[in-house]
Amino acid sequence: MATFLTEESRTFNEYLLIPRLTTRECTPDKISLKTPLVRHKVGEEADIYLNTPFMSACMQSVSGEEMGVALAREGGIAIIYMSQSIEDQARMVRNVKETKSGFVTSKWNLKPGDTLADILRIKEETDHSTIPVTEDGSPKGKFLGIITSKDYRLSRDSLDKKVEDIMTPAEKIVSAKPGLTISEANDIIWEHKINCLPIIDENGNLNSLVFRKDYEQHKENPLSLLDEEKRYRVGAGVNTRDYEQRIPALVEAGADVLCLDSSDGYSIWQKEVIEWVHSKYDGKVKIGAGNVVSKEAFDYLADAGADFIKIGIGGGSICITRETKGIGRGQATACIEVAKARDEYAKKTGIYIPICSDGGIVHDHHITLALAMGCDFVMMGRYFARFDESPTQKVKINNEFFKEYWGEGSKRARSWQRYDLGSKNEKMSFVEGVDSYIPYAGSLKDNLGVAIKKIKSTMSNCGSASIEEFHEKAILTPVSNLSIQEGAAHDLTVRDV
Ligand code: IMP
Repeated sequence: MATFLTEESRTFNEYLLIPRLTTRECTPDKISLKTPLVRHKVGEEADIYLNTPFMSACMQSVSGEEMGVALAREGGIAIIYMSQSIEDQARMVRNVKETKSGFVTSKWNLKPGDTLADILRIKEETDHSTIPVTEDGSPKGKFLGIITSKDYRLSRDSLDKKVEDIMTPAEKIVSAKPGLTISEANDIIWEHKINCLPIIDENGNLNSLVFRKDYEQHKENPLSLLDEEKRYRVGAGVNTRDYEQRIPALVEAGADVLCLDSSDGYSIWQKEVIEWVHSKYDGKVKIGAGNVVSKEAFDYLADAGADFIKIGIGGGSICITRETKGIGRGQATACIEVAKARDEYAKKTGIYIPICSDGGIVHDHHITLALAMGCDFVMMGRYFARFDESPTQKVKINNEFFKEYWGEGSKRARSWQRYDLGSKNEKMSFVEGVDSYIPYAGSLKDNLGVAIKKIKSTMSNCGSASIEEFHEKAILTPVSNLSIQEGAAHDLTVRDV
């Protein structure tokens, strides 16, 4: 007979935290959100930490190179999506690693034969008014000039006017050679009263751009997540099919951590990949695994050597796995059980394995609850897809802006490797995700800044100055439906929020 669990599975909305004594040691300005990313001996340091407990989902509609840079700037890490060719994924990883903080690889470029109409289209889509011109329109092509909004007059110039006739040509532009520091670049920007400094290599090819505003931003990002060479840290998704080719390419490109991306990680295939990675790279390349929702599955991947383990089946906003296949578990219950298993494992073996709640985070306080329940960091898709830095289109519908967001198991992404159960049939026979629009929310920095303030404020309420302390001290209570109603504004007409 099947096993029946008696406890209902619950989600974040069904829990609240009970405040504990707030002391002078845990005011929000003293709270650290630094958290280990990979397994380590209890009481010893981990090889990699996150400065803030955020990981962006391994999804086409979330984690491209722009997200990689933006999230690392705020202390978290992006997992560059694997549902693309090995070459393209490795290129994205390389581009993040090569974006020295403050030096930007230009994503939007023009060719000399493009027209004013193309300039306006890029400006409309991206809000960028400074666009480099390269011979072939590529980010690293031969540098020919720059377009800014000072170069054309919409009232006079026709839309088919060529870029080469509008641009400020290379010879009139102040530039610098690769190898200078960000503060040297900034000195040149100030000295010449310019807004953008192109960095051009000895062959005349565009290397990167330094913007006056980015330098200021760089100073504003004390939490940036950097490796030993002061490059941004970035992760990359991998699967259990082409790992022998994909992983070496990603490692070569500089990925700081790998993450097995699967809707169900409790499989022999994940164990084999983890073992392969650790034996090939002698433990130097780190690999996370998942997703799991039970102690049994956690223990299996922990024994296999996973460096971190992700939790969550069926809770993602775009996910229809529970409806399609009837597998999954309420996200809070899954986190609570796995956190308990992780602590038992640490006691038994002396090894601490960080765990990550993946999927279903809607509100900022869900992040706090996941941390309180024992998670070390959270992975989010919808949350990050709303921002400027996600790779998808911003669209206007009925005078409101939205961003596109689609699941890896949707018809649009067709990431069959994520749902692979080892059969010979290398394609998806049914979908487990949807394609959607979500309200556009602005920049990652602004939104994450507010989220961090909320998380720290709650941790202060709960007497905790670090995530580790929060794990120990948090007291959680399940709430009834009526208490949930009581928690929202009620019995009045709201005038403003
Ligand atoms: P969200 O943060 O609630 O949007 O959930 C994002 C998470 O959903 C990802 O990190 C994946 O674990 C999962 N996911 C991504 N694509 C799909 C899909 O198509 N179906 C089911 N789950 C998905």
